[in-house]
Amino acid sequence: MITGASSGIGRGIALEIAARGASLGLLARREELLQEIVNEAESLNVRAISASADVRDAKAVREAADRFRKELGPIDVLIANAGIGTADHAIKIQPQHAADVININVLGAVNSVAAVAAEMVERGQGRLVAISSLAAYRGLAKSAAYCASKAALSSYFESVRIDLRHTGVGVTIIHPGFIKTDLTAGREAKMPYLMELDYAVKKIVSAIEKEKKTYAFPWQLATIVRATMLMPPAMYDWIAERNSFRE
Ligand SMILES: NC(=O)c1ccc[n+]([C@@H]2O[C@H](COP(=O)([O-])OP(=O)(O)OC[C@H]3O[C@@H](n4cnc5c(N)ncnc54)[C@H](OP(=O)(O)O)[C@@H]3O)[C@@H](O)[C@H]2O)c1
Repeated sequence: MITGASSGIGRGIALEIAARGASLGLLARREELLQEIVNEAESLNVRAISASADVRDAKAVREAADRFRKELGPIDVLIANAGIGTADHAIKIQPQHAADVININVLGAVNSVAAVAAEMVERGQGRLVAISSLAAYRGLAKSAAYCASKAALSSYFESVRIDLRHTGVGVTIIHPGFIKTDLTAGREAKMPYLMELDYAVKKIVSAIEKEKKTYAFPWQLATIVRATMLMPPAMYDWIAERNSFRE
């Protein structure tokens, strides 16, 4: 089950997994884009079902998961990928937009976990995957709501991982750097170590297959981000102000 499967990383993961022969339950709002992936999967003799739903709607997410289970069998892996970005300076943040970011990026993933976790635990197997971001580690310029949402998402899944120890259900938290998708398209600010989508998708799927607890990449940017976590606030602010990834 993949949320946010209609474009970008979610679509890429869906096609990569289809090429490996696994059935797909695809969730997003844009039904026609999901249908294209269903058609591609079927051309590979892979079963795929699309469900047009908004991850903010807990009932709709549960109904989609129920349909996937009924028509395809138990859900082995949830990839909670649906997400949106922001690009607002602190004084321009619109509370409603910030609420959307938190509701989609965080509560959307909470709804997705809620729709599959109990059944996974009952079966004694399964994997919950969060597509978080390197932006989860520290606040970045003009990204307050986005950074807050990804920090919350990573912490949420880390707590879930602890709760589910010894149940047979694992948790993988992915922290990607910049990837070429609609989310980053059109940005003029420099995005260091910007990755091609195919490359990033292969890295993500490989980390899931290896059942990693967490995976941050590309390693160069992940190393820099981890190093900033050791910096005192004044030093970090000085560096972060000079390295804005937003116009
Ligand atoms: N690209 C990057 O550099 C990058 C880096 C780190 C992390 N990420 C994360 O990767 C994830 C995917 O982003 P992307 O780069 O692939 O962007 P994208 O191409 O814009 O894809 C976003 C996906 O999320 C879905 N989505 C958005 N709001 C939704 C909602 N309310 N309900 C259901 N689905 C919703 C969209 O589908 P519909 O519009 O059809 O609903 C779309 O399939 C996000 O969580 C993002 O934060 C991206």
